[in-house]
Amino acid sequence: PVIRLEDYSPARYTIETVALDIQLSPRATQITSRLALRRRDETAPGTPLVLEGGDLELVGLALDGASVHRDDFTVTPEQLVLLAPPEGPFELEIVTKVDPDANTRLEGLYRSSGTYCTQCEAEGFRRITYFLDRPDVLAVYTTRIEAKRSECPILLGNGNPVESGPVSDKPDRHFAIWHDPHPKPSYLFAMVAGDLACVTDRFQTRSGRAVDLGIYVEHGKESLCDWAMDSLKRSMRWDEEVFGCEYDLDVFNIVAVSDFNMGAMENKGLNIFNDKYVLADQDTATDQDYANIEAVIAHEYFHNWTGNRITCRDWFQLCLKEGLTVFRDQEFSSDMRSRPVKRIADVRLLKAHQFPEDAGPLAHPVRPRKYTEINNFYTATVYEKGAEVVHMLKTLLGAETFRQGMDLYFRRHDGEATTIEAFLACFAESSGQDLGAFAIWYEQAGTPLVTVASRHDAAAGTLTLELTQDIAPLPGQPSSAPAVIPLRFGLLGPNGADMTPTSIEGMSVRGDCLVLEHRKQTVTFSGIPHRPVLSLLRDFSAPVRLEVEEDESDIAFRAGHDRDPFNRWQASQTLVTRHLLRALQGGTSAPEDSTLISQVFGQLLADQSLDPAFKALALQLPGEADLAREKGKDVAPEQIHDLRQGLRRRIARDHLTLLREIEALRPQGSFDPGADQAGARALANQALTFLAVSGEADDADLVARRYETATNMTDRLAALTLLVHEGMPAAEAALEDFRARHATSALALDKWFMVQATSPAGDALERVEALTRHALFDEGNPNRVRALVHAFATGNPVQFARKDGAGFAFAAAQALKLDARNPQVASRLLTCFRSWRAYDTVRSDLAEKTLRSLAEAENLSRDCRDIVERCLQ
Ligand code: ARG
Ligand code: ZN
Repeated sequence: PVIRLEDYSPARYTIETVALDIQLSPRATQITSRLALRRRDETAPGTPLVLEGGDLELVGLALDGASVHRDDFTVTPEQLVLLAPPEGPFELEIVTKVDPDANTRLEGLYRSSGTYCTQCEAEGFRRITYFLDRPDVLAVYTTRIEAKRSECPILLGNGNPVESGPVSDKPDRHFAIWHDPHPKPSYLFAMVAGDLACVTDRFQTRSGRAVDLGIYVEHGKESLCDWAMDSLKRSMRWDEEVFGCEYDLDVFNIVAVSDFNMGAMENKGLNIFNDKYVLADQDTATDQDYANIEAVIAHEYFHNWTGNRITCRDWFQLCLKEGLTVFRDQEFSSDMRSRPVKRIADVRLLKAHQFPEDAGPLAHPVRPRKYTEINNFYTATVYEKGAEVVHMLKTLLGAETFRQGMDLYFRRHDGEATTIEAFLACFAESSGQDLGAFAIWYEQAGTPLVTVASRHDAAAGTLTLELTQDIAPLPGQPSSAPAVIPLRFGLLGPNGADMTPTSIEGMSVRGDCLVLEHRKQTVTFSGIPHRPVLSLLRDFSAPVRLEVEEDESDIAFRAGHDRDPFNRWQASQTLVTRHLLRALQGGTSAPEDSTLISQVFGQLLADQSLDPAFKALALQLPGEADLAREKGKDVAPEQIHDLRQGLRRRIARDHLTLLREIEALRPQGSFDPGADQAGARALANQALTFLAVSGEADDADLVARRYETATNMTDRLAALTLLVHEGMPAAEAALEDFRARHATSALALDKWFMVQATSPAGDALERVEALTRHALFDEGNPNRVRALVHAFATGNPVQFARKDGAGFAFAAAQALKLDARNPQVASRLLTCFRSWRAYDTVRSDLAEKTLRSLAEAENLSRDCRDIVERCLQ
């Protein structure tokens, strides 16, 4: 069934309080739920109460203390209907039974390595008990958890701890009661029980509340929690300082589990994390892992206000909490690290994941209008494009007005389940602006293409720009409306400094930001005697594709001189992309064409004034997937791979000495995960990436030596990846060493799988297939599946899209197999087909056949069927 935004109506009944009693047992957990219900005034007396369930077994039902006659209700595993509820408030007691050990979907209540845990967003609570399992039903929860003390010494719930102790008539069992005073929707419910170690700390909020912080992990992993705890405390302080948001309970707990469908979950007072976003030390985690932990800890913590205190009216409003919270975690990381480097990293992710989604059959608006399976809408569009929309709001309104709008949002909607309209209204009020046209960003799918043509009139001293915007037709969206596009700009003079026009006419301007509002607009800058080099979309001020008519020499000039670091980075990327796409069109790449690029890279390498982290990014060639996306059609991944390798080799050979010098500046001494050391390592490893293809024996030795002598995971993994991906002689021995060295770290072993899965070597698929039968492979562990199968399907463009179709067939077969166990993980895997129409005809025919055969499979989950059918539409 299709769920539509326009069909929204409030629930017929409200639930004021929920009292849960959970009797834990691995194969038969019994849940007693006592609900205080009330008919809403708008609901006619006698209206049936319809509660959702998911695969549930009803054990008992009582209304106001008396059991309910079998004619007065109907029940299936998916629904419990009380046919004629009382007119006034009433209490319903529901007893259900679930099997946590049999729960391979990892949704609802399940066990991961012996620890009971829950995942209720979006619709997992209904797999625990029958409920009004929708985000606009807010209730106060009290949770009593009872378990065998020896199995589960730790019992955790939402909110504050109330009471705990032995169970009187059962000597081996104990209980704990938790109370959460803040009304919340069911998707924020959580409980955890197990034998876990705890790392504790304390945080004092600015108004003086002492908060006990706890991070719960498997015994022996306590020493891996320092960075997560540090990140948590910094997040709590930052949210007070930057958004005025203070924590509101006496405890804040985080639990790390090894089997988790996604990254982490913001359950009130009890965040549950995929352990890869908690555990870190220098031997097992890369600098990127450290940065991710910092960001995800912050993200989940920030949800306490943007998501929990103020939640979503319905799942169409998912971006209300996710887009906003991603924006907030991005701001946090920017303040903790280098803002420009963070911006570049975020835009790279957006372009790598969201742009392809937005250009293919799975495209949908930031606020979708319909869905069949909500779990398929936790997407890059909702999260990352959603964050870009908030970023644009801030750009258009200015920091101060933006903050006033946020303050108003927190004041006005605290305790509510609300909508995007309500959110935007706060900014319309704080700014006095009409944001009606801006709202199109939430409504319309597709990435606008902005084109710019410029004319300079030296005699008049004017520069005229003609700008257009358009979105290519998408399935279900044949045409589009113009959006409000903030374009930050600069006009570079001959010395690289920005020129200041005496006037700007034809478009509205706010500070350094042009605001494009129509399909076609012309703007004229006066007081510009010399032809400037145009720098547009500075800081990536809008999630658009930009096409400017300009010479390669202008782009190279920007790559060297733009004072906006984002655009400096973008210029070097554009230069390389244009060059390689031209070569692809022509079928050859004349090496003399790459002279300009090699020069620009030489200048970057030699520039001592650049932040090493920035320099590392600027020196990174656009990835194969980036190039495929820019090409857009007739994609043949191995051609892209070969051309890119050629350019990489040319740059290596032209700048051997400089590269070797930079590579040698690798930080020595004690390890620090902070931005400075991480940036220096990134630069050294970027230099090594070029040297690995120089063709010189010395450099091959260097890579092997770097592997052997590495003192941290960042350097070790960087070297291992080069050894394996470039097919260097030391590869096999290094792989074997890595596996043995990290035999006890599942997270490190994931990297061992991933390196092999993403190798461009011709036998990669055979290797991956063999690895699915390896003793260390575990189909039930989502991280392991992602490290091998997803990594192959989404991170190995050449071998996934093999011309014999074997890569497609493998991904489809794996998805089918996984689907029976865990539909969410399987359907995520199938999004690897989202750009299938962009391949050349041989490959797109093969991909289509694969998708059609999937569509015919019996017993396909709703999750997978939705992806397959949308891909084919
Ligand atoms: N709310 C979580 C977060 O972004 C993610 C939950 C994902 N849920 C899902 N069904 N995919 O912080
Ligand atoms: Zn989130």
